[in-house]
Amino acid sequence: MKKDFLNIISGLINKSDLNEIRKDFADLLTAIKKSKNQNIDLGNEFTSVTKEFLTEAINQILETQTIERTKYYIKRLKKSLTEIKESKINDLNLNRWKEYDDIITDSLWVLNKRDNSGAHHAGYWGNFIPQIPNQLLRRYTKKGEWVLDPFLGSGTTLIEAQRLGRNAVGIELSQKVLEQTKKNIERESNPHKIELEFVNGDSASVDLLEVESVLQIKSFQFIIWHPPYWDIIKFSDNKSDLSNSKSIEEFLKGFGKVLDNCIPHLDKKRFAAVVISDKYSNGEWIPLGFYVMQEVLKRGMILKSTIVKNFDETTAKRNQKELWRYRALAGGFYVFKHEYIFIFQKK
Ligand SMILES: C[S@@+](CC[C@H](N)C(=O)[O-])C[C@H]1O[C@@H](n2cnc3c(N)ncnc32)[C@H](O)[C@@H]1O
Repeated sequence: MKKDFLNIISGLINKSDLNEIRKDFADLLTAIKKSKNQNIDLGNEFTSVTKEFLTEAINQILETQTIERTKYYIKRLKKSLTEIKESKINDLNLNRWKEYDDIITDSLWVLNKRDNSGAHHAGYWGNFIPQIPNQLLRRYTKKGEWVLDPFLGSGTTLIEAQRLGRNAVGIELSQKVLEQTKKNIERESNPHKIELEFVNGDSASVDLLEVESVLQIKSFQFIIWHPPYWDIIKFSDNKSDLSNSKSIEEFLKGFGKVLDNCIPHLDKKRFAAVVISDKYSNGEWIPLGFYVMQEVLKRGMILKSTIVKNFDETTAKRNQKELWRYRALAGGFYVFKHEYIFIFQKK
């Protein structure tokens, strides 16, 4: 049945008796359900398709009332199994979009379980959860392209890039953090034989032209900025560390310099993301996220989405949950439970 699958579908497109088509599809569905494998072999470049995908498509055909509509669905099914419809910014086959149910397309992200596999670990205070770069890299890059992460930290982006077959450059101000991260990532296998480059320096002034020339590349296809959330976590004593900014103005100026250094190296029409949260201090909610968003907009990028993601409850916060609830009730504010992922496109 398996390898003949496409031939059977092609044959059915030419039939004109609706009952006959339905019967053949019902038989096909029974055969698919009986198959012990989760995937059905197609014997073409797609190799296989999930049982779930086929079952849904065939059920849609079986429920259709007119011959015209039935044929339309059969043709669509055939197309999805034989043709690739790709966009310029990722490897998703839009003819099979229904199969990507793990790719988030809503602007509210509720991610509860951190991926702790392999080199990923929650140990680096202030790192983001791997699902963030995973989702973004799959949406905004193709295999073999180059990703820039100017705030490397524990290297979550680079780990995901390596797993997904994307090359990446990570810049980190702290030499110590950089070395630890490099060592940690080296524990992971590199199944797609991609390149990872670790650069120690200030992202506002690292010479990216030189980095590109060493790597023999011309530009990047995606940038992810995950800066310190101003002074919420102090990462080092280094003056160039954005977490040491004395005021919000200084923080935004510093972040702006990083943007000025990076944006020229992103290809036109390609995407970039900023991950950041707001801040509450001295009885005031400081819209850090929106200020940062403005900095990117000022530099001519187009805002494509504002994603709100639930905030991982840290152990410290969890222990103080009651206290924060009391403070919120008494102080007329709400306890932080979210951060932002802003998506931009370069004109
Ligand atoms: C929020 S953390 C990034 C965490 C990272 N996404 C991860 O998953 O581990 C910010 C990082 O930026 C670094 N940093 C701060 N200022 C910097 C600068 N001017 N240039 C480069 N790195 C900087 C800090 O040392 C810290 O490791």
